[in-house]
Order: sequence, then C-alpha cells, then structure tokens
Amino acid sequence: MYVCICKAVTDRQIRSAVQDGVTSMSGLRKTLGCAGQCGKCGRHVKEIRDEVVGGSCSDANLMRIPAFSAA
Ligand code: FES
Repeated sequence: MYVCICKAVTDRQIRSAVQDGVTSMSGLRKTLGCAGQCGKCGRHVKEIRDEVVGGSCSDANLMRIPAFSAA
C-alpha cells in the first residue's frame, strides 16, 4: 500500500528500510524520500516505523529457550 503519495513509497519499502537499520525519521526521509515533501504521510510513516521497531523481535531474532525437562 502506498503510504507516501508524493514519493510513491509503500509500507513494504518502509518496513524493509527499518529492518535494514534505518530507524530514524530523518533516515527514512533521506533513504526513501518519504515525509519530505508535503509531510502528510509523516504520521503514518512513523507508526509503521514504530511498529517494526517495537516488534523487532522477529522469529529470526527470537532466542531459543531449551525445553524444560521435568526429569
Ligand atoms: S505524502 Fe509523503 S511527503 Fe507528501
């Protein structure tokens, strides 16, 4: 879904950039160009960024916890 109409930036692009380490709004602005023109998408970009950062404990990052042994 397009989030930034001015720069044709999608939510996938934003999620991907954040997962690649671009976690600041200024970084997203520089990298993707979103939120840098009219600014109307800024709130939505930030929400997506926060969602990815807050949920950064993806399956790949989860620590494996050894199974509990009752024996
Ligand atoms: S919609 Fe993103 S800068 Fe205008």
